[in-house]
This record gives sequence, structure tokens and C-alpha cells, in this order.
Amino acid sequence: GLKLSFYSTLAGTLYVSYELYKESNPSKQVPQSAAFPNGLKKKELVILGTGWGAISLLKKLDTSLYNVTVVSPRSFFLFTPLLPSTPVGTIEMKSIVEPVRSIARRTPGEVHYIEAEALDIDPKAKKLMVQSVSENEYYVSSLNYDYLVVSVGAKTTTFNIPGVYGNAYFLKEIEDAQNIRMKLMKTIEQASSFPVNDPERRRLLTFVVVGGGPTGVEFAAELQDYVNQDLRKWMPDLSQEMSVILIEALPNILNMFDKTLIKYAEDIFARDEIDLLVNTAVKVVEPTYIRTLQNSQTTTNIPYGMLVWATGNEPIELSKTLMGRIPEQTNKRGLLINDKLELLGAEDSIYAIGDCTAHTGFFPTAQVAHQEGEYLSKILDKKLQIEQMEWDMQNSTDNAKMTRLQKEIDVKKSKLDKFNYKHMGALAYIGSETAIADLHMGDSSYQLKGMFAFLFWKSAYLAMCLSIRNRILIAMDWTKVYFLGRDSSV
Ligand code: FAD
Ligand code: NAI
Repeated sequence: GLKLSFYSTLAGTLYVSYELYKESNPSKQVPQSAAFPNGLKKKELVILGTGWGAISLLKKLDTSLYNVTVVSPRSFFLFTPLLPSTPVGTIEMKSIVEPVRSIARRTPGEVHYIEAEALDIDPKAKKLMVQSVSENEYYVSSLNYDYLVVSVGAKTTTFNIPGVYGNAYFLKEIEDAQNIRMKLMKTIEQASSFPVNDPERRRLLTFVVVGGGPTGVEFAAELQDYVNQDLRKWMPDLSQEMSVILIEALPNILNMFDKTLIKYAEDIFARDEIDLLVNTAVKVVEPTYIRTLQNSQTTTNIPYGMLVWATGNEPIELSKTLMGRIPEQTNKRGLLINDKLELLGAEDSIYAIGDCTAHTGFFPTAQVAHQEGEYLSKILDKKLQIEQMEWDMQNSTDNAKMTRLQKEIDVKKSKLDKFNYKHMGALAYIGSETAIADLHMGDSSYQLKGMFAFLFWKSAYLAMCLSIRNRILIAMDWTKVYFLGRDSSV
């Protein structure tokens, strides 16, 4: 037994060291060029975004086959599944980001990165306008493409509810997590300066989360963990007064999960003293209170110290502008694509993946964006192989060779399969070292809950990480919190 554990630890250490070495010592890349050695022009592939879709594509693509340019205002990939753990310090923010430069540097071909926001796309001219910022000056330039991959994600919707902007905090990007952390720590200190039973102290210690989807649920769970496991030690009296309220417009939270798991999550919230208000829609947000409508009849004002808003997605401006330019784009919820992920109305040159698209039947998840990115890398590889064979045909006079090439092209073209999404299931952390997992394998589904599901959740997220570096940092954060508690400094 001892020998076995010694050898397995040794094998594990060697494997991790080898992977880390590979990650931090990238090999030489094929430089960008106007044409391949055989004369075929190299196509310009522009990828918009550095999120789940774009980075999954970039990591799998043979980048020596195209002149690849990535355009995104965010110079790093963000591992969103653990974002709700960061504001309270369960996970450090640096542990869930990965610079796009290092990801791009580990691919076979040279990749250009432009830190800029795409403003507009002209599908007819195959051109896009990008805006970069340098020392508060804006620079607009244009970029041509042969193929464009739009993977720009979505923003948090507010349903135009007045007062959300300016008063509520979103949880979508790393800056959002930083802002929540600052506000949380400041609000607690502010509250402590008021005497017990002062209504202002009670207001400040009321933390409201709007939206009972997985973002709202996971953040409320992390916040209550922080109160119960850390704040209770350092500010025992104040922590008893703190309340976390989760508000959901529908009769249940986590509607994409199996009913037994929803019930379990609601029971855990009740045990952990998270106040769950279902059938309650927030209608107005004021600086110190929200107005809610319960069961479509009762209006209540709820004072709050901090408000986190997580009510789902809506398209960003660029997606809306693109929709306006293409008559076939008739869905206001997102970009319409066909089953090969080609944008309707610009099928020959634009692909769209991830949260910026309007899928029927898919939730806007990392899982979908990741599979779409990987699928697209295969399609782009195959397209180039076909082009190379067509080029060889054009430059050949040998009839037998031309017939053979035509056959190969036909076979390759017939193998440009449709995108086929494989749903593996859904996971959510619900607090106090418990999670729920709704797993799908083939036609069967399995439900896990509690401590075992939490361990599964942890290992699944470690496996989902896109780099060994992130895996190590996240595992270290969990260990650190287990022994030392959460770091509550700002
Ligand atoms: P994103 O990952 O959002 O990336 C969009 C990219 O586009 C960003 O790099 C952005 O900077 C860039 N961009 C924006 N505007 C422009 C522009 N104009 N020009 C160029 N680039 C632009 N899904 C799961 O499956 N499991 C989970 O556990 C999970 N947890 C989540 C937790 C949280 C808190 C959140 C917010 C989401 C979570 N999701 C989860 C959903 C998942 O993160 C998204 O579905 C996924 O990120 C979508 O990938 P994407 O590439 O479409 O967009
Ligand atoms: P969501 O769309 O899943 O949930 C938003 C919730 O807010 C809905 O239940 C809706 O009824 C409620 N709501 C809307 N307006 C409201 C109002 N005015 N008052 C009260 N409640 C209101 O959004 P979320 O959680 O931001 O997730 C976005 C996407 O990211 C989803 O597809 C989700 O699956 C994915 N995600 C997945 C995670 C996971 O798998 N663990 C974690 C986080 C996000």
C-alpha cells in the first residue's frame, strides 16, 4: 500500500512538473506570412473575444494555418465557474485568470493580439472597426478578415428596471468581483460604527442578491459561508445581525436543475439562514432600498446595504449593431446561426459562438461555448485542407492526380459535420461544503447532492481549468482557506 502511494505520488508529481514545464517553455511558432510556401494565400482569421468560446477555439486550432488575430478589450481568459468564490476570498482573483498572450504563445503559429473593442462589422466588405484606449485617448482603426469568429459573450440584463445601473453590482467580470469585495468590506465596517438596533446598521447589514439562477445562488452561498465561517470568528455579534436575501421572480430557484435538487438547495438555504424570497420580482431599485412585487400583488420595500444583480443575459451593443446590418438576423435575444455555427446572412465568412448567439434548447453556458470553440477549430482545419487540395488541383496538369484530389475534396467536404452538443449536466455550489450535480451520460441522468457532490464539483472544476497553472493555484487557494480561513482584507 505504502509503495503504491509512493509511486502514484511520484508519477503525479512528474506529470504535473512535465506539464508545467511544457506550459512555461513554449516551442517556436510558425511566423505569420502572406502565403504558404506553395503559393496559396494565407487567410486572415479574426477572433473577437477572449472568453470560453474564443479561447477554446484558439487552444485547439492549428494557428499556423491562418494569420490569426485576436481582438478583445480583456487581455486574459476568465474561468467564470469560480468567479462567485472570489469576492469573499475563497479563491484569489489571480488564480482564475490566464493571460491571452501566454495562451496564444503556446499554439503552433504566431498569433497577434489587439487589446481593443470591436465597434462595428461590415459583413459585405469583410471589415471591422476596432477601438483601443491608450492613456484616455481612443483610437479607431479597421481590420480586414477572410473569416471572423464572433465570441463576444453577453452582458447582464436589467430588463430596463429603473435604478439597477448606478446602485447594483453585477457579477460577470473580474472587476465586478473586485467592486463587490470592496463594497462588502466597506459596508461591514460602516455598519459597525452604528449602535446595535439602529435601523441604519440593520440596513447596511442586509445583503440582497437578485436572481435565483446559478450566479445568484452560488454568490449568495459564498457570502453566507463567509459570514458563518469567517466573520463569525472576527465579529461574532455583528455577524449574527447580517442577513443574506436571495430574490427570485419565479416559484423556484435553479430552474434548469432536477426538482429533487432544487428542493435540496432550498432546504440547505433555509438551514444556513439565507432568506429566499420566491415569486418576488424586483421592480424598482433606489439607492438604499428595492421595491418588490410578490405574487403579482403585494408591494414591499426592502432596505439593503449591498445589492448584487444576476438576472440573466442580454446581447452587447456590437451584437445588436451586427443584427441591424443583416436582414436575416431577426431574433433580438442573440445572433442567429445555422447548425455549422455560421452566422445567418453571412454564412461564407462569419461564425458566432457562445453567449452572443440565440440558441434554441441550449443554456448560455461555458460548456456550450467550449464545445462550439473546439468544433470550430476542427472545421477551420478541414477548410484549409480542402483549400490546399483545390490549390494543388488548380496548379496540376496531371489528370489522374486531379481526379484523386477531387475525390478527396468531396470526401472532406462531406465530413464537415454539423455541430453536435453533448450535454454533460449542470453543477452548482450551494454553500456549507455542499453542491448539487445533475449529470447526463448518454440517455441516463444522475443526481448527486451534498458533500459528495461538493467533492465532485471541486474535481470537475479543476478538470475544466484551461491551464495547469490555474489548477495548482485553485487547489492551493482551497487548501489555504481550509487551514487559514478567508483573507478578508480589501
Ligand atoms: P465570455 O466568456 O463572456 O467572453 C466574451 C469575451 O468577449 C470577453 O473576453 C470579452 O472581453 C470580449 N468582448 C466583449 N465585448 C467585445 C467587443 N466589442 N469586441 C471584442 N471582444 C469583446 N457556465 C458553465 O457552464 N458552468 C459554470 O459553472 C458557469 N459559471 C458561471 C459563473 C458566473 C459568475 C458567470 C457570469 C457565468 C458562468 N457560466 C458558467 C456561464 C459562462 O461563463 C458563459 O456561458 C461563457 O463565459 C460564455 O462564453 P463566451 O465566450 O460566449 O463569452
Ligand atoms: P439565469 O438566467 O440563469 O437566472 C436569472 C434568474 O433571475 C431567473 O431565474 C429569473 O427568473 C430571475 N429574475 C429575472 N428578473 C428578475 C427580477 N426582476 N426579480 C427577481 N428575479 C428575477 O442567469 P444567471 O444565473 O446569471 O446565469 C446566466 C447563464 O450562465 C445561465 O445560462 C447559467 O446556466 C450560466 N451559469 C451557470 C453556472 C453553473 O452551471 N454553475 C453558474 C453561473 C451561470
